[in-house]
Amino acid sequence: MKDIARQNMSIKVESMDLLNGQIKMEAHASAIYLAMASWCEQNGFFTSAKFFYKQTEEERGHMMKIFQFLVDVGGNPISPEVKNINHDYSSIVDVFETTLEHEVAVTKSIHNIVLKARELGDITTERFLDWFVLEQVEEENTIRDILDMIEVTGTEGVGLQMIDNKVNDWME
Ligand SMILES: [Fe+2]
Ligand SMILES: [Fe+2]
Repeated sequence: MKDIARQNMSIKVESMDLLNGQIKMEAHASAIYLAMASWCEQNGFFTSAKFFYKQTEEERGHMMKIFQFLVDVGGNPISPEVKNINHDYSSIVDVFETTLEHEVAVTKSIHNIVLKARELGDITTERFLDWFVLEQVEEENTIRDILDMIEVTGTEGVGLQMIDNKVNDWME
């Protein structure tokens, strides 16, 4: 884009570039959760599939929230290319453990942008990200609770079906 447009933004150019990276990460998360929904459907974890359909929509919502923010500040939001979506999981435990890994990575990325914005004196971007910082606390907590429930329930015998049924508790 033209340099003059970048200079007229109400946030820092560096922040915009980092936020475009975050748009991509949220789109990637949305795609991963859709792949997990597919795995759950094919392996008989129908409640978990519903959980991941909901997560897919939420991540898309996160992406659009950042996208719209970049529009509002006069920036240039980029529609992301999403590649390398894993569809192979060894178990439902693997699915939720991978989910936690992703959420932790997203949290780190958001914290990194907050710190960078602070360093740049970009108060607008820093304040915008407040919502995301708190959202990540909730998301990580949800997945940790599900993993705790899986550990308590155990995966032997009827355990797997009980796990799937109990995921309903986190559907709101
Ligand atoms: Fe997200
Ligand atoms: Fe998330």
